[in-house]
Amino acid sequence: MTTSVAANRRRFLRFLAGSPLFARAWAQQSESVIETAKEGLSLMDFETAARKVLPPAHWGYMASGVDDDFTQRMNREGFKRFQLRPRRLVDVSKVDLKTEVFGTAWDAPIFLSPVGGQRMFHPEGEVAVARAAKAKKTTQILSSATSIGVEDVGRALGSPLWYQLYMPVRWEGTEKLVRRVEEAGCPVLVWTVDLLGGRNLETAERFRRMDTRECASCHATARGGRAPGELPMYKGIEGGFNPPAANWDTLDRLRKLTKMKLMLKGLDTREDARLAREHGVDGIIVSNHGGRATETGRSTVEALGEVVDAAGAQIPVLVDGGFRRGTDVFKALALGARAVGIGRPYVWALSAFGQDGVERVLDILRAELQLTMRECGMPSIQQITRASIMPADTRLL
Ligand SMILES: Cc1cc2nc3c(=O)[nH]c(=O)nc-3n(C[C@H](O)[C@H](O)[C@H](O)COP(=O)(O)O)c2cc1C
Repeated sequence: MTTSVAANRRRFLRFLAGSPLFARAWAQQSESVIETAKEGLSLMDFETAARKVLPPAHWGYMASGVDDDFTQRMNREGFKRFQLRPRRLVDVSKVDLKTEVFGTAWDAPIFLSPVGGQRMFHPEGEVAVARAAKAKKTTQILSSATSIGVEDVGRALGSPLWYQLYMPVRWEGTEKLVRRVEEAGCPVLVWTVDLLGGRNLETAERFRRMDTRECASCHATARGGRAPGELPMYKGIEGGFNPPAANWDTLDRLRKLTKMKLMLKGLDTREDARLAREHGVDGIIVSNHGGRATETGRSTVEALGEVVDAAGAQIPVLVDGGFRRGTDVFKALALGARAVGIGRPYVWALSAFGQDGVERVLDILRAELQLTMRECGMPSIQQITRASIMPADTRLL
């Protein structure tokens, strides 16, 4: 080992020693790892299993946030700021998880958030997730950075696929992409607006440097992924995506461009929720990209209440970020979310067990939500209200 390599290695080990992300991964490695999807008891069992099978660069990209990974941790911490207020002596012999979004009945208020490049985690990538979503009748949102085209994933899902948009920088690219998505039959377009200013994926980069494999043998850029031209949804679209100049006029233009239901993903404030409603948006996803966009330090469950209030009753508000337990989902529903998305948990499951894993994760989360509803005396989703929870700080309600 040359001196500079040894010095780099020492510096990196020092960084790891102080990193909470590493401490957690280390602690989990010493725990038992499940061998089959069926053995999984909680969503977190799949994190340990994924850690075991993924190479450092892919694991680090998925497991990390931005800057100090603080917002990512806060997404979990936020749930501790709300407590449950169970009601007793209610007939809970039958519990109904059904809800409705844009006039469509959902079996449960849980969906799969868009995650890019899923073949990085499993050879069948987005298609395996689609098969699981089909088996479990769950809405899947396909990322613009998908590693498999919308047409093939749509076929595997066998029902309308929601599509997440990273807007191309050039407008003619947006027109082309939106037409393709419409032709594939997608009923809902989800424009993610939290990466327009860029981001700092520092921890992911540190993990990438640990990886000794030759990245360029699979993808053109060594820095964690594919160049836009390599992504199936950006073939023939020049100029990259996520224009920093985008503003509410851009939204108006997009609104006029398509008849698909239009949602914004990545709103966290009442001001933006109000603007979204005024500009004709059909729905909002409260999200901080799983702590991977702006280091706000604010969990999505804490931001949810103000967005719901400003959005009004006409627009459904969905949320994601750190949801791991049925009680987490229950708290978001109590704050007024129509449904809750998961990102990393199904990617952990995909990484370790493919389609079976994703199905198991959906089963576990649904079963936990059902149990929470039974325990809290709320046999239907509609009965869950803000009275079902208690904030540690009343300003959160
Ligand atoms: C590896 C990874 C890739 C992601 N890719 C996208 C994406 O392409 N588009 C998008 O809108 N959000 C993306 N997200 C954010 C998720 O949609 C979602 O907001 C987040 O994962 C929810 O938090 P959770 O992972 O704690 O459940 C990604 C998240 C991860 C972890």
